[in-house]
Amino acid sequence: MSTDKVQQIREGLLRWFQDVQRDLPWRRTRDPYAILVSEVMLQQTQVDRVIPYYARFLERFPTAHDLAEAPVAEVIKLWAGLGYNRRAVNLQRAAQVVVAEHDGQFPSDPEELRKLPGLGAYTSGAVAAFAFERDVVFLDTNMRRVITRLMFGTESVPEREVLAVAQELLPPGHGWVWNQALIEFGALQCTARKPACIVCPLTSQCAAFPHIQSALATARPRSRPAERFETSSR
Ligand code: ADE
Repeated sequence: MSTDKVQQIREGLLRWFQDVQRDLPWRRTRDPYAILVSEVMLQQTQVDRVIPYYARFLERFPTAHDLAEAPVAEVIKLWAGLGYNRRAVNLQRAAQVVVAEHDGQFPSDPEELRKLPGLGAYTSGAVAAFAFERDVVFLDTNMRRVITRLMFGTESVPEREVLAVAQELLPPGHGWVWNQALIEFGALQCTARKPACIVCPLTSQCAAFPHIQSALATARPRSRPAERFETSSR
């Protein structure tokens, strides 16, 4: 990959993030426990829905210690409504391991974090980057889509190739902001079904843009009645 292209993508994405980023509560902390709580909640649940649960959970269990010693039934009760309760059970088990084996201090190394119950590659990378500001690469579906579109176009690509270019793109020393920016870009701009290419600052670097643009150009005009659009036999 040319250094120019890397530079342009880095600058474009980081500038975009400065302008549009949401002020989310877990972006205001570097507490690994609070960040783990947010990331586990966000695994299968939308941001808007997570916000009140995150606040209530941390109010009741402000530290890994508090969570570790709570009755599991109380933990699940506070989780009710978010669903996938196994996440809550694993989160408490992770807190218990941190208290029992790490003196209540989360490790900063993603490989060590990964040994905690319920933490896979994504979550351990997210805690290392967002709590300890480590330069780690980790990908959820949205981040993978952003990197794939930018660098490879519209084809699906083996995970290790996506990881390799993701590693190359990460600006050294900026693991926190870079990963938040990728997440935000996937959530707000480069969405799965309706990427907002028309207002995207990265189209001139994007491998997928020519394909998406030509798909949009041949699509039917939106002004046609929805009924005809949907029931057309063509
Ligand atoms: N989803 C997962 N992690 C997130 C984060 N840090 N901000 C917003 N959405 C997320």
